[in-house]
Amino acid sequence: FQVPPAVNEPIKSYAPGTPEREEVLLMYKDMYNTKVDVPLYIGSEEVRTKNTATIHPPHDHKHNLGVYHLAEKKHINKAIDAAMDARHKWAKLPWEQRAAVFLKAADLIAGPYRQKMNASTMIGQSKNVFQAEIDSACEIVDFLRFNVEYMTQIYEEQPESDEKAWNRVEHRPLEGFVYAITPFNFTAIAGNLPSAPALMGNVTIWKPSASQMFSAKVLMDVFQEAGVPDGVINMVMGDPAMITDTILDSPDFAGVHFTGSTDVFKGLWSKIGQNIDKYKTYPRIVGETGGKDFIMAHPSANAKEVSTSIARGAFEFQGQKCSAASRCYVPKSMWDEVRSDLEEDLGSFKMGSPEDMGNFINAVIHEKSFDKLAKYIDQAKKDKDAEVIIGGGYDKSKGYFIEPTVILTTNPNYTTMETELFGPVVTIYVYEDAKFEETLHLVDETSPYALTGAIFSKDRYAASLATDILQNAAGNFYINDKCTGAVVGKQPFGGARASGTNDKAGSKLNLLRWSSPRLIKETF
Ligand code: ALA
Repeated sequence: FQVPPAVNEPIKSYAPGTPEREEVLLMYKDMYNTKVDVPLYIGSEEVRTKNTATIHPPHDHKHNLGVYHLAEKKHINKAIDAAMDARHKWAKLPWEQRAAVFLKAADLIAGPYRQKMNASTMIGQSKNVFQAEIDSACEIVDFLRFNVEYMTQIYEEQPESDEKAWNRVEHRPLEGFVYAITPFNFTAIAGNLPSAPALMGNVTIWKPSASQMFSAKVLMDVFQEAGVPDGVINMVMGDPAMITDTILDSPDFAGVHFTGSTDVFKGLWSKIGQNIDKYKTYPRIVGETGGKDFIMAHPSANAKEVSTSIARGAFEFQGQKCSAASRCYVPKSMWDEVRSDLEEDLGSFKMGSPEDMGNFINAVIHEKSFDKLAKYIDQAKKDKDAEVIIGGGYDKSKGYFIEPTVILTTNPNYTTMETELFGPVVTIYVYEDAKFEETLHLVDETSPYALTGAIFSKDRYAASLATDILQNAAGNFYINDKCTGAVVGKQPFGGARASGTNDKAGSKLNLLRWSSPRLIKETF
């Protein structure tokens, strides 16, 4: 099958004097000062309810950006009906037509909607423009374009036949609807989770994070303008427990596409188990959950590469990335150099509103996250086996700002070596050079998660040993690179253990989860 070849959307620079810099700043100002009113999207209707919640930028939490509407149970049931009504026609639509809709969405984001997507992500999720561009422009476009290519590869692959029997596989959508639950931290995930099942012919009910409503609205506008038919992607907000309970109660629930916390995912899984007799079909459960991602340096590694990777891996996106480096293992012989490089790098990071493009660090998402991070930082200041060596300051008077913080610990099992904090805090353990192999086992056993990890080494035997001992410690494992920055089409992304079902986002594997294949054997 010939589809337009998928290529990664080039990242624009936003350097001073570039047109994109001017455009995004104008869009930022405009969106910052215009109130939004985000409805529920149910079938052909935009539903406004009596209950609303206010949207605030994390870096300026007294500023009011507008409201989003909160559903009641009846609205969720309506969304299920709308999805099921749309299902038959959408599933019967030839795949080229579905592909064209999502290629159009990609084109709109790459072009006319680019700065709206970026500005809404900068304002609503407090990201600097360089990070917004990677997330809410390029990565969404990549997901949409590459998924179309993967879909055609899936359809093309057919079993062998002979002159007596023709075997063919038909990729049917699941028998029901898919529930997509998305987090605040990546607009790209919000772009991918409802659209990947829809591309495969499914209908979806999408619950965005309450902390991502500003860009969720723009995304929904894009889907509509691209021609996603009514009822194919429905968007609902409100009390998460009520929404989930209502959805999981439906016999037509056929799958969940989730990114979020491990606890919520485990809760979903057990509720689905309790309801299993209700469903027509075993639901597909696809989830990407937490991480406690590591960077490990061998004594042979280049110290500067290690420190730069810690600085970028831990603090880009305020560390609010499931892939962010949050525990590091540095050999004693390298530590002084890594430490002084980190002090220099982090000392140069400016913190503040994303409107000022010089600010590398922006606010963390909300007060709950801020308070949690501040609590762990304070505890580390008190504990005997830990020390805050860089940063450690915080201030929530205007926005939820946490200084990039480095904790040094003498205890490889210190709380912040094991617990996911999801913010700009990294913990470092310095190991004796001679204990490299022992430390690799420690890395493997320290945390329940297994999302991303990195080994830095010039010594090939050491790199190989690490690759072997850490074989289950990360779904995305990097040799001589930081543990973040997976690119769609190049590094399919996901982890196992407490990090998820490892159905690699942006891959054939993920799309296959949204198909219920039928084998047809026809004999002559
Ligand atoms: N794809 C993002 C990364 O790898 C989450 O950092």
